[in-house]
Amino acid sequence: MQSTKTRRAIPTAARVDRFSYAIRNIVAEAQRVEASGTRVRYLNIGDPVAFGFQTPPHLIAAVERALRDGHNNYGPSPGIPSAREAVAAEYSSNGFPVTADRVFITAGTSEGIELVLSAIVDEGGEVLVPMPTYPLYTAVLAKLGARAKYYRLDPNRHWLPDLGHLNDLVTPDTRALVVIDPNNPTGAVYPTEMRRSLLAFAEDRGLVILADEVYGDLGFDGPVSPLGLLDPDAAIISFSSLSKAYLAPGWRTGWMAIGRSPRLDDVVAAVKKLADGRLCSTVPMQYAVAEALTGDRSHQIGFRRDLKARSDLTVSRLRAMPGVTCVAPTAAFYAMPRVTLPPGRTDEEYVKALLHATGVLCVHGSGFGLPPEQGFFRIVFLAPLDELRMVYDLMGKFTAEYLRSV
Ligand SMILES: Cc1ncc(COP(=O)(O)O)c(C=O)c1O
Repeated sequence: MQSTKTRRAIPTAARVDRFSYAIRNIVAEAQRVEASGTRVRYLNIGDPVAFGFQTPPHLIAAVERALRDGHNNYGPSPGIPSAREAVAAEYSSNGFPVTADRVFITAGTSEGIELVLSAIVDEGGEVLVPMPTYPLYTAVLAKLGARAKYYRLDPNRHWLPDLGHLNDLVTPDTRALVVIDPNNPTGAVYPTEMRRSLLAFAEDRGLVILADEVYGDLGFDGPVSPLGLLDPDAAIISFSSLSKAYLAPGWRTGWMAIGRSPRLDDVVAAVKKLADGRLCSTVPMQYAVAEALTGDRSHQIGFRRDLKARSDLTVSRLRAMPGVTCVAPTAAFYAMPRVTLPPGRTDEEYVKALLHATGVLCVHGSGFGLPPEQGFFRIVFLAPLDELRMVYDLMGKFTAEYLRSV
């Protein structure tokens, strides 16, 4: 006979309770809706390939070649030299001079973010994170036993950071400022004066800026310069990847570039030490990095044009819905509209009711750190225009009924 002890569920760590990633968490609810026979339109995940955009063939060829040429060994932990050199050359030609020895090739921007936060923030440390935020930052900080301090992005000012609020949040435990520009979930691009103010703020307070620039090539009017262009000697670490602008999110291939400031030398060493522990990121995919950054990027011209058309449709259709407002995005594939909720209702209730009634899946603003009663929600507008028209027909009809009935 077995003792009762051995039949008990294996306990999980407390940190899992603190870890939350709303963009995927809400999928469980959608799957239940799907099981009941309703078609679900997944507008929750920013994956252009899932909506029919194609990975450029020359990048696929580079990976195929690498596989056939036998590059199936472990690689150097910071990445293969050709990829690191291409990333360094790309930043340098965009005005942020970086050397290859300060570039790390990572499993997407995501791993870069996790490596750097692990390298610079102790338990109890604080990091300034935008609100709304991309939820990986808060999730990783929770895992590390550190704290996210939210600074407001202001929907009444094109979702720009509220500098006064930022100033109020700094304490002796503050370690870094996260700047996501172009932004997910708002689609905003920050003007040069705002970027200068953020740089000045971080410099004054001795903070490193974690510049999430994964949408840098997806400004509707063309690529957006890296933040480091404005001050190559500032303490900046930039992150990006092949996921968005190079249409290969499943490859999990990205990079970080650590600025030349000697104040960051210890961070380079710390990241290297942590990167050694995970051996390397996937090697064959790294062979696509130089191909992406030095080869043909003409796919981006059509991609930006398609995104702008989808954004225009999204904004005009949302603004036509009674009770809904929307700041127009200027980059990427996200919009963050707001529905004026009746007192006592939450954004999550609205999003779930929308899902159950129509099969349209969006993510509630509180999943990005916003107060639930404010009624924000995020739409990924990568679907084809006809599909989006159908989605907005459903959403408009549902929202009018929802606001009437509650
Ligand atoms: C702002 C932001 N940072 C990082 C990521 C993660 O991207 P990657 O696929 O490069 O890990 C995303 C993905 O949606 C994102 O929106």
